[in-house]
Amino acid sequence: MRTFFLSLLLCSGASQAAEVEFLHWWTSAGEKNALKRLENELAKADIPLKPAPVIGGGGDSAMTVLQARALAGNTPSFAQIEGPSIKSWDAIGILHPINKTATTHHWDEVLHPLAKAINKTDNGYVALPLTLHRLNWLWTNQRLLAQLQLTPPKTWPELFQAMEIAHQQGFIPLAIGDQPWQIAQLFESLVIAAGGVSFYQSALVELDKRNIDSAEMRLALSQLRHISLLTSHPLPDQNWDSATQALAQDKALFQIGGDWILGDLLAHKVAVPEHISCQPAPQSRQTFLYNMDSLIFMASKTFSAQQAERVANRLADKDFQSEFNRVKGSIPVRNDIDLSQFNLCQQRSYHDFLFASAHGLAIPSMTDSMAVNPVTQQAINSEIFRFFRNQPISEDEVIRRIVSIAASN
Ligand code: BGC
Repeated sequence: MRTFFLSLLLCSGASQAAEVEFLHWWTSAGEKNALKRLENELAKADIPLKPAPVIGGGGDSAMTVLQARALAGNTPSFAQIEGPSIKSWDAIGILHPINKTATTHHWDEVLHPLAKAINKTDNGYVALPLTLHRLNWLWTNQRLLAQLQLTPPKTWPELFQAMEIAHQQGFIPLAIGDQPWQIAQLFESLVIAAGGVSFYQSALVELDKRNIDSAEMRLALSQLRHISLLTSHPLPDQNWDSATQALAQDKALFQIGGDWILGDLLAHKVAVPEHISCQPAPQSRQTFLYNMDSLIFMASKTFSAQQAERVANRLADKDFQSEFNRVKGSIPVRNDIDLSQFNLCQQRSYHDFLFASAHGLAIPSMTDSMAVNPVTQQAINSEIFRFFRNQPISEDEVIRRIVSIAASN
Protein backbone atom coordinates (compact mmCIF):
# COMPACT_ATOMS: atom_id res chain seq x y z
CA MET A 1 0.00 0.00 0.00
CA ARG A 2 2.78 2.36 1.04
CA THR A 3 4.75 1.70 -2.17
CA PHE A 4 1.62 2.04 -4.28
CA PHE A 5 0.84 5.44 -2.85
CA LEU A 6 4.40 6.66 -3.16
CA SER A 7 4.61 5.68 -6.82
CA LEU A 8 1.24 7.28 -7.47
CA LEU A 9 2.59 10.50 -6.05
CA LEU A 10 5.92 10.29 -7.82
CA CYS A 11 4.34 9.64 -11.23
CA SER A 12 1.85 12.44 -11.04
CA GLY A 13 4.30 15.19 -10.04
CA ALA A 14 3.08 16.99 -6.93
CA SER A 15 3.98 20.51 -5.81
CA GLN A 16 6.19 22.84 -7.84
CA ALA A 17 9.47 24.74 -7.66
CA ALA A 18 11.47 25.62 -4.59
CA GLU A 19 8.52 27.13 -2.81
CA VAL A 20 6.74 24.97 -0.31
CA GLU A 21 2.99 24.74 -0.41
CA PHE A 22 1.13 24.79 2.90
CA LEU A 23 -2.51 23.68 3.15
CA HIS A 24 -4.29 25.18 6.16
CA TRP A 25 -7.50 26.80 7.41
CA TRP A 26 -6.08 29.87 9.11
CA THR A 27 -8.06 32.68 7.50
CA SER A 28 -9.25 34.94 10.35
CA ALA A 29 -7.35 38.06 11.46
CA GLY A 30 -5.56 36.37 14.37
CA GLU A 31 -4.82 33.27 12.33
CA LYS A 32 -3.37 35.35 9.49
CA ASN A 33 -1.12 37.10 12.00
CA ALA A 34 0.18 33.76 13.19
CA LEU A 35 0.59 32.51 9.62
CA LYS A 36 2.67 35.59 8.82
CA ARG A 37 5.04 34.58 11.64
CA LEU A 38 5.34 31.14 10.07
CA GLU A 39 6.07 32.62 6.66
CA ASN A 40 8.72 34.92 8.14
CA GLU A 41 10.35 32.03 9.95
CA LEU A 42 10.73 30.06 6.73
CA ALA A 43 11.99 33.15 4.92
CA LYS A 44 14.93 33.18 7.37
CA ALA A 45 16.04 29.93 5.73
CA ASP A 46 15.21 31.20 2.21
CA ILE A 47 12.21 28.93 1.95
CA PRO A 48 9.39 30.73 0.09
CA LEU A 49 5.91 29.81 1.31
CA LYS A 50 2.93 29.28 -0.94
CA PRO A 51 -0.11 29.24 1.36
CA ALA A 52 -3.10 27.14 0.26
CA PRO A 53 -5.92 28.31 2.56
CA VAL A 54 -9.19 26.39 2.69
CA ILE A 55 -11.94 28.50 4.22
CA GLY A 56 -13.86 26.94 7.08
CA GLY A 57 -12.81 27.04 10.72
CA GLY A 58 -12.35 23.71 12.44
CA GLY A 59 -10.73 22.25 9.34
CA ASP A 60 -13.45 19.92 8.03
CA SER A 61 -13.32 21.40 4.52
CA ALA A 62 -9.52 21.54 4.58
CA MET A 63 -9.34 17.84 5.45
CA THR A 64 -11.71 16.96 2.60
CA VAL A 65 -9.52 18.94 0.21
CA LEU A 66 -6.39 17.25 1.56
CA GLN A 67 -7.84 13.78 0.99
CA ALA A 68 -8.97 14.66 -2.53
CA ARG A 69 -5.55 16.05 -3.36
CA ALA A 70 -3.80 12.96 -1.99
CA LEU A 71 -5.99 10.71 -4.13
CA ALA A 72 -5.18 12.83 -7.17
CA GLY A 73 -1.46 12.58 -6.36
CA ASN A 74 -1.23 16.32 -5.81
CA THR A 75 -0.33 16.74 -2.16
CA PRO A 76 0.85 20.05 -0.72
CA SER A 77 4.36 20.02 0.79
CA PHE A 78 2.91 20.27 4.27
CA ALA A 79 -0.48 20.60 5.88
CA GLN A 80 -2.20 21.63 9.09
CA ILE A 81 -3.72 18.61 10.81
CA GLU A 82 -5.16 17.55 14.16
CA GLY A 83 -5.15 14.52 16.42
CA PRO A 84 -5.52 10.83 15.57
CA SER A 85 -5.76 11.35 11.81
CA ILE A 86 -1.98 11.95 11.90
CA LYS A 87 -1.65 8.22 12.57
CA SER A 88 -4.01 7.34 9.72
CA TRP A 89 -2.01 9.45 7.27
CA ASP A 90 1.18 7.81 8.49
CA ALA A 91 -0.31 4.35 8.05
CA ILE A 92 -0.95 5.10 4.36
CA GLY A 93 2.76 5.76 4.05
CA ILE A 94 2.89 9.21 2.50
CA LEU A 95 4.38 11.19 5.38
CA HIS A 96 8.01 12.16 5.79
CA PRO A 97 9.06 11.37 9.36
CA ILE A 98 10.97 14.27 10.91
CA ASN A 99 13.15 12.45 13.40
CA LYS A 100 16.28 14.54 12.80
CA THR A 101 14.33 17.65 13.73
CA ALA A 102 12.96 15.87 16.80
CA THR A 103 16.49 14.96 17.94
CA THR A 104 17.92 18.42 17.24
CA HIS A 105 15.15 20.07 19.25
CA HIS A 106 15.12 17.45 22.06
CA TRP A 107 11.43 16.71 21.60
CA ASP A 108 11.51 13.61 23.79
CA GLU A 109 12.60 15.83 26.67
CA VAL A 110 10.73 19.07 26.06
CA LEU A 111 7.36 18.16 24.56
CA HIS A 112 4.37 17.70 26.84
CA PRO A 113 3.49 13.96 26.94
CA LEU A 114 0.29 14.74 25.07
CA ALA A 115 2.21 16.26 22.15
CA LYS A 116 4.43 13.17 21.98
CA ALA A 117 1.50 10.78 22.04
CA ILE A 118 -0.28 12.60 19.22
CA ASN A 119 2.66 13.18 16.90
CA LYS A 120 4.71 9.99 17.27
CA THR A 121 4.13 6.55 15.77
CA ASP A 122 6.29 3.44 15.23
CA ASN A 123 8.01 5.50 12.53
CA GLY A 124 9.06 8.09 15.11
CA TYR A 125 7.83 11.68 14.87
CA VAL A 126 5.61 11.95 11.80
CA ALA A 127 4.16 15.38 12.61
CA LEU A 128 5.33 18.62 14.14
CA PRO A 129 3.20 19.83 17.06
CA LEU A 130 2.56 23.56 17.08
CA THR A 131 -0.31 24.72 19.31
CA LEU A 132 -2.33 23.60 22.29
CA HIS A 133 -5.74 25.26 22.25
CA ARG A 134 -8.22 25.28 25.12
CA LEU A 135 -11.81 25.04 23.95
CA ASN A 136 -13.92 25.36 27.10
CA TRP A 137 -13.60 29.13 27.47
CA LEU A 138 -16.36 31.62 28.16
CA TRP A 139 -15.48 35.06 26.75
CA THR A 140 -17.40 37.91 28.37
CA ASN A 141 -17.84 41.52 27.34
CA GLN A 142 -17.08 43.30 30.62
CA ARG A 143 -18.59 46.63 29.50
CA LEU A 144 -21.95 45.02 28.77
CA LEU A 145 -21.78 42.93 31.91
CA ALA A 146 -21.35 46.12 33.98
CA GLN A 147 -23.98 48.01 31.99
CA LEU A 148 -26.48 45.20 32.60
CA GLN A 149 -25.43 45.04 36.26
CA LEU A 150 -24.60 41.37 36.05
CA THR A 151 -21.95 39.26 37.74
CA PRO A 152 -19.87 36.63 35.91
CA PRO A 153 -21.98 33.44 35.65
CA LYS A 154 -20.52 30.32 37.21
CA THR A 155 -23.25 27.84 36.26
CA TRP A 156 -25.30 27.28 33.13
CA PRO A 157 -28.54 28.43 34.82
CA GLU A 158 -26.74 31.66 35.81
CA LEU A 159 -25.48 32.04 32.26
CA PHE A 160 -29.00 31.55 30.90
CA GLN A 161 -30.33 34.21 33.26
CA ALA A 162 -27.68 36.68 32.09
CA MET A 163 -28.41 35.80 28.47
CA GLU A 164 -32.11 36.40 28.98
CA ILE A 165 -31.43 39.86 30.43
CA ALA A 166 -29.08 40.71 27.54
CA HIS A 167 -31.73 39.51 25.10
CA GLN A 168 -34.44 41.67 26.70
CA GLN A 169 -32.13 44.69 26.48
CA GLY A 170 -31.57 44.17 22.77
CA PHE A 171 -28.05 42.68 22.89
CA ILE A 172 -26.91 39.41 21.34
CA PRO A 173 -26.79 37.13 24.39
CA LEU A 174 -24.25 34.67 22.99
CA ALA A 175 -22.25 35.27 19.83
CA ILE A 176 -22.29 32.01 17.90
CA GLY A 177 -20.48 30.89 14.80
CA ASP A 178 -23.42 29.23 13.13
CA GLN A 179 -21.65 26.17 11.68
CA PRO A 180 -21.90 22.50 12.70
CA TRP A 181 -18.47 22.32 14.39
CA GLN A 182 -19.17 25.52 16.36
CA ILE A 183 -22.51 24.32 17.68
CA ALA A 184 -21.10 20.88 18.42
CA GLN A 185 -18.29 22.49 20.39
CA LEU A 186 -20.75 24.44 22.46
CA PHE A 187 -22.50 21.14 23.13
CA GLU A 188 -19.26 19.58 24.40
CA SER A 189 -19.07 22.17 27.17
CA LEU A 190 -22.67 21.39 28.11
CA VAL A 191 -21.90 17.67 28.25
CA ILE A 192 -18.90 18.25 30.53
CA ALA A 193 -21.07 20.33 32.87
CA ALA A 194 -23.91 17.81 32.81
CA GLY A 195 -21.88 14.68 33.53
CA GLY A 196 -18.27 15.56 34.37
CA VAL A 197 -15.03 14.52 32.72
CA SER A 198 -15.35 10.73 32.82
CA PHE A 199 -18.92 10.93 31.56
CA TYR A 200 -17.74 13.12 28.66
CA GLN A 201 -14.94 10.62 27.88
CA SER A 202 -17.31 7.72 27.87
CA ALA A 203 -20.13 9.38 25.90
CA LEU A 204 -18.24 11.45 23.35
CA VAL A 205 -14.77 9.90 23.07
CA GLU A 206 -15.46 6.19 23.59
CA LEU A 207 -19.03 6.59 22.24
CA ASP A 208 -20.45 4.22 24.86
CA LYS A 209 -24.14 3.72 24.11
CA ARG A 210 -25.10 3.58 27.81
CA ASN A 211 -23.86 7.10 28.33
CA ILE A 212 -25.04 8.52 25.02
CA ASP A 213 -28.55 7.35 25.87
CA SER A 214 -28.61 8.94 29.31
CA ALA A 215 -30.19 11.60 31.50
CA GLU A 216 -27.00 13.68 31.33
CA MET A 217 -27.11 13.84 27.52
CA ARG A 218 -30.79 14.75 27.65
CA LEU A 219 -29.99 17.57 30.04
CA ALA A 220 -27.18 18.85 27.79
CA LEU A 221 -29.48 18.70 24.75
CA SER A 222 -32.31 20.50 26.51
CA GLN A 223 -29.85 23.25 27.48
CA LEU A 224 -28.65 23.43 23.88
CA ARG A 225 -32.28 23.86 22.83
CA HIS A 226 -32.59 26.68 25.38
CA ILE A 227 -29.59 28.40 23.78
CA SER A 228 -31.00 27.92 20.29
CA LEU A 229 -34.22 29.65 21.36
CA LEU A 230 -32.36 32.53 23.00
CA THR A 231 -30.13 33.12 20.00
CA SER A 232 -32.64 32.65 17.24
CA HIS A 233 -31.60 35.85 15.39
CA PRO A 234 -28.57 34.77 13.37
CA LEU A 235 -25.65 37.10 12.82
CA PRO A 236 -25.36 38.54 9.30
CA ASP A 237 -22.27 36.44 8.63
CA GLN A 238 -22.04 33.15 10.45
CA ASN A 239 -18.34 32.47 10.98
CA TRP A 240 -16.82 32.18 14.45
CA ASP A 241 -14.66 35.25 13.86
CA SER A 242 -17.61 37.46 12.91
CA ALA A 243 -19.24 36.31 16.13
CA THR A 244 -16.06 37.44 17.91
CA GLN A 245 -16.38 40.82 16.19
CA ALA A 246 -19.90 41.19 17.62
CA LEU A 247 -18.45 40.47 21.05
CA ALA A 248 -15.59 42.96 20.62
CA GLN A 249 -17.92 45.68 19.28
CA ASP A 250 -20.13 45.52 22.38
CA LYS A 251 -23.01 43.96 20.47
CA ALA A 252 -22.82 40.56 22.16
CA LEU A 253 -22.41 39.70 25.84
CA PHE A 254 -20.78 36.25 25.64
CA GLN A 255 -19.03 33.84 23.31
CA ILE A 256 -18.03 30.27 24.11
CA GLY A 257 -15.16 28.69 22.23
CA GLY A 258 -11.50 27.97 21.67
CA ASP A 259 -8.74 30.46 22.36
CA TRP A 260 -8.26 31.21 18.66
CA ILE A 261 -10.90 33.78 19.72
CA LEU A 262 -8.18 35.38 21.84
CA GLY A 263 -5.89 35.46 18.79
CA ASP A 264 -8.54 37.43 16.92
CA LEU A 265 -9.23 39.78 19.81
CA LEU A 266 -5.51 40.54 20.08
CA ALA A 267 -5.24 41.06 16.31
CA HIS A 268 -8.01 43.65 16.60
CA LYS A 269 -6.23 45.30 19.56
CA VAL A 270 -9.02 44.50 21.99
CA ALA A 271 -7.95 44.70 25.64
CA VAL A 272 -8.07 41.21 27.12
CA PRO A 273 -9.05 40.53 29.88
CA GLU A 274 -10.11 44.16 30.67
CA HIS A 275 -12.67 44.58 27.90
CA ILE A 276 -13.24 40.93 26.98
CA SER A 277 -12.46 38.52 29.81
CA CYS A 278 -11.88 34.79 29.83
CA GLN A 279 -13.13 32.24 32.31
CA PRO A 280 -13.68 28.51 31.92
CA ALA A 281 -17.12 27.63 30.51
CA PRO A 282 -19.65 27.18 33.34
CA GLN A 283 -19.16 24.13 35.57
CA SER A 284 -15.91 23.14 33.87
CA ARG A 285 -13.43 25.14 35.93
CA GLN A 286 -10.78 22.46 36.32
CA THR A 287 -11.35 20.78 32.98
CA PHE A 288 -9.08 21.44 30.04
CA LEU A 289 -10.84 20.57 26.80
CA TYR A 290 -8.17 20.74 24.11
CA ASN A 291 -7.19 20.38 20.52
CA MET A 292 -3.73 20.57 19.02
CA ASP A 293 -2.57 21.87 15.64
CA SER A 294 0.21 19.84 14.07
CA LEU A 295 1.90 19.88 10.68
CA ILE A 296 2.44 16.85 8.45
CA PHE A 297 5.05 16.76 5.70
CA MET A 298 3.99 14.92 2.58
CA ALA A 299 6.24 12.83 0.34
CA SER A 300 6.19 13.77 -3.35
CA LYS A 301 8.47 14.12 -6.33
CA THR A 302 9.17 17.74 -5.48
CA PHE A 303 9.20 17.55 -1.72
CA SER A 304 11.95 15.28 -0.45
CA ALA A 305 12.65 13.94 3.02
CA GLN A 306 15.55 16.38 3.23
CA GLN A 307 13.35 19.37 2.37
CA ALA A 308 10.82 18.21 4.94
CA GLU A 309 13.49 18.17 7.65
CA ARG A 310 14.65 21.62 6.55
CA VAL A 311 11.18 23.13 6.89
CA ALA A 312 10.44 21.25 10.10
CA ASN A 313 13.74 22.26 11.63
CA ARG A 314 12.86 25.95 11.26
CA LEU A 315 9.33 25.54 12.56
CA ALA A 316 10.54 23.59 15.58
CA ASP A 317 12.61 26.60 16.64
CA LYS A 318 11.80 27.42 20.24
CA ASP A 319 11.50 31.20 19.74
CA PHE A 320 9.25 30.72 16.73
CA GLN A 321 7.04 28.27 18.60
CA SER A 322 6.74 30.76 21.42
CA GLU A 323 5.91 33.71 19.17
CA PHE A 324 3.45 31.74 17.04
CA ASN A 325 1.44 30.66 20.08
CA ARG A 326 1.56 34.10 21.66
CA VAL A 327 -0.12 35.52 18.57
CA LYS A 328 -2.43 32.55 17.97
CA GLY A 329 -4.03 32.67 21.45
CA SER A 330 -2.91 29.13 22.29
CA ILE A 331 -0.19 27.79 24.58
CA PRO A 332 3.06 26.11 23.49
CA VAL A 333 3.44 22.35 23.14
CA ARG A 334 6.86 22.55 24.83
CA ASN A 335 7.36 22.65 28.59
CA ASP A 336 10.33 25.07 28.53
CA ILE A 337 8.76 28.29 27.22
CA ASP A 338 8.43 31.30 29.49
CA LEU A 339 4.88 32.64 29.31
CA SER A 340 5.43 35.90 31.20
CA GLN A 341 5.04 37.92 27.98
CA PHE A 342 1.86 36.06 26.98
CA ASN A 343 -1.65 37.33 27.59
CA LEU A 344 -3.12 36.65 31.06
CA CYS A 345 -5.68 34.28 29.54
CA GLN A 346 -2.85 32.21 28.08
CA GLN A 347 -1.05 32.20 31.42
CA ARG A 348 -4.22 30.97 33.08
CA SER A 349 -4.66 28.39 30.32
CA TYR A 350 -1.18 27.02 30.95
CA HIS A 351 -1.70 26.91 34.68
CA ASP A 352 -5.01 25.08 34.21
CA PHE A 353 -3.47 22.71 31.65
CA LEU A 354 -0.77 21.62 34.09
CA PHE A 355 -3.35 21.07 36.82
CA ALA A 356 -5.74 19.22 34.51
CA SER A 357 -2.97 17.01 33.09
CA ALA A 358 -1.84 16.04 36.57
CA HIS A 359 -5.39 15.17 37.64
CA GLY A 360 -6.77 13.39 34.57
CA LEU A 361 -8.90 16.40 33.65
CA ALA A 362 -7.35 17.22 30.26
CA ILE A 363 -9.70 15.83 27.62
CA PRO A 364 -9.65 15.82 23.82
CA SER A 365 -12.32 17.61 21.82
CA MET A 366 -14.39 15.09 19.88
CA THR A 367 -15.93 17.77 17.70
CA ASP A 368 -12.55 19.28 16.77
CA SER A 369 -10.81 16.16 15.48
CA MET A 370 -9.05 14.93 18.59
CA ALA A 371 -10.92 11.74 19.41
CA VAL A 372 -12.92 9.83 16.81
CA ASN A 373 -12.52 9.24 13.07
CA PRO A 374 -13.51 12.12 10.76
CA VAL A 375 -16.59 10.38 9.33
CA THR A 376 -18.05 9.70 12.77
CA GLN A 377 -17.10 13.19 13.94
CA GLN A 378 -18.81 14.92 11.03
CA ALA A 379 -21.89 12.74 11.35
CA ILE A 380 -22.28 13.53 15.07
CA ASN A 381 -21.54 17.24 14.54
CA SER A 382 -24.22 17.49 11.89
CA GLU A 383 -26.80 15.70 14.06
CA ILE A 384 -26.18 18.19 16.86
CA PHE A 385 -26.34 21.08 14.41
CA ARG A 386 -29.59 19.79 12.91
CA PHE A 387 -31.08 19.53 16.39
CA PHE A 388 -29.95 23.08 17.19
CA ARG A 389 -31.54 24.49 14.05
CA ASN A 390 -34.79 22.52 14.07
CA GLN A 391 -37.01 22.97 17.04
CA PRO A 392 -39.28 19.98 16.21
CA ILE A 393 -36.40 17.51 16.54
CA SER A 394 -36.63 15.87 19.94
CA GLU A 395 -33.82 14.96 22.31
CA ASP A 396 -34.75 11.28 21.94
CA GLU A 397 -34.46 11.46 18.18
CA VAL A 398 -30.99 12.98 18.20
CA ILE A 399 -29.85 10.48 20.85
CA ARG A 400 -31.15 7.59 18.73
CA ARG A 401 -29.23 8.91 15.77
CA ILE A 402 -25.97 9.38 17.69
CA VAL A 403 -26.30 5.87 19.11
CA SER A 404 -26.63 4.48 15.61
CA ILE A 405 -23.61 6.49 14.36
CA ALA A 406 -21.65 5.13 17.33
CA ALA A 407 -22.73 1.57 16.51
CA SER A 408 -21.38 1.84 12.96
CA ASN A 409 -18.11 3.43 14.16
C1 BGC B 1 -7.73 24.93 14.85
C2 BGC B 1 -7.29 26.35 15.13
C3 BGC B 1 -8.12 27.32 14.33
C4 BGC B 1 -9.60 27.06 14.58
C5 BGC B 1 -10.53 28.01 13.87
C6 BGC B 1 -9.24 24.78 14.97
O1 BGC B 1 -9.62 23.53 14.50
O2 BGC B 1 -7.11 24.05 15.74
O3 BGC B 1 -5.92 26.52 14.83
O4 BGC B 1 -7.77 28.63 14.67
O5 BGC B 1 -9.91 25.75 14.17
O6 BGC B 1 -10.30 28.07 12.54
